[in-house]
Amino acid sequence: MSTLRPRPVPGLGAAAIGAEEEALVLDVLKRQELFRYYGNDPQRPPPMCAQLEGEARALFGVDYALAVSSGTAALEVTLSAAGIGPGDEVIVPAWSWISCFTAIVRTGARPVLAEVDASLCLDPAEIARRHTPRTRAVLVVHFQGAPAQMDRIQFEAHRRGLFVIEDCAEAPGATFRGRRLGTWSDAAIFSFQHNKPMTAGEGGLVVTRDLRIYERAVRMHDLGQYRPYHAQLMPPRETAFAGGQARMSELTAAVALAQLRKLDRIRDHCRQLKARVAPRLAALPGITLRPMADPAGDFGFEVYFYVQDPGTAAFYREKLTARNVACIQRTGTYPQYHRDYVKSGLTAHPALNPFRDCPSWPAPGYRVEDFPVTEDLTQRFVALPLGWRTTPEDADYIAASVEAVHHERGG
Ligand SMILES: Cc1ncc(COP(=O)(O)O)c(C=O)c1O
Repeated sequence: MSTLRPRPVPGLGAAAIGAEEEALVLDVLKRQELFRYYGNDPQRPPPMCAQLEGEARALFGVDYALAVSSGTAALEVTLSAAGIGPGDEVIVPAWSWISCFTAIVRTGARPVLAEVDASLCLDPAEIARRHTPRTRAVLVVHFQGAPAQMDRIQFEAHRRGLFVIEDCAEAPGATFRGRRLGTWSDAAIFSFQHNKPMTAGEGGLVVTRDLRIYERAVRMHDLGQYRPYHAQLMPPRETAFAGGQARMSELTAAVALAQLRKLDRIRDHCRQLKARVAPRLAALPGITLRPMADPAGDFGFEVYFYVQDPGTAAFYREKLTARNVACIQRTGTYPQYHRDYVKSGLTAHPALNPFRDCPSWPAPGYRVEDFPVTEDLTQRFVALPLGWRTTPEDADYIAASVEAVHHERGG
């Protein structure tokens, strides 16, 4: 036991918080300007949200960026901005975070669950398979740092006239074919929740090149208003409608801005660690690394590998944990068809329920037996997190531990 290394401190953005975040937060506090749209000078709105949006536009290479209160809010705002609503269907991977399902339901549209491929992202072939005359959009989730097959997804979706939304909550800074995630679609969202590669505790971002989506997203997140700050970027064209409230505060923006400036450094650190671990695991018979649509584009903060069956995966998890190697599923993601709100098929108000016409529940498409691929893949993987504080020596220890467990299992 004396050879055990201490478990590396978990965390990506949160573990990288330092003097930069402190300085920007203090700046907000000293100016006593916490609200993004007005502060001490009526002629000059406070700078943090605006600066965050400006730097996000430059970094992601998009025309418009809007800071919002969470990744979930970003999803709801984007879906509404795209005009998704009752009677519509949105294709979404069955293996995705809670909000990917609930955000669609809350517009009144129906989430149509789809299988993932071995990268644990949406299988592009599912778009043809799940498409109906009611399909309006595809919500792609770049799962835990890994890019989905965006070229094929975009091709399949756009030839059917579908709107594509990228959910980059778990993969900000990752790329596909050298292009940043978030730029492959009609609109994309990011989350700055605590567990994300860049964080402000809570927070989110919508990015798009579509000015109509931008204006509608602004109105949706700010009670239908389109304030002068936005009007000077892009004059309004839309008629006002009743929006919600999902604004970001200047304090949140201060932290998010400092983190955005560190994002690529955090990513490169993780990629270097992954490069030490992945080849050693790939050399082990019986172990298959999670294949990637573009291995070079992965953020690299989790190394996933598949084994033959769930029992072997449980063996690895138990033995690695005993060696002080973290190998739990950190995101809490599990298939939507296993979640309570899918099992109940309920919404807050029955009139908004997109499943109300289903003769029985769970209807086909919401049952475990409808997703043999997702069910199989997600029971056979082991995930090894690599964090900001993980050192090269930690990474080598993680790889050596998997090798030792592999040997213990009989090779
Ligand atoms: C893929 C994905 N989408 C959306 C979200 C929602 O983000 P938030 O927690 O900021 O609402 C998360 C994270 O929690 C996520 O992992």
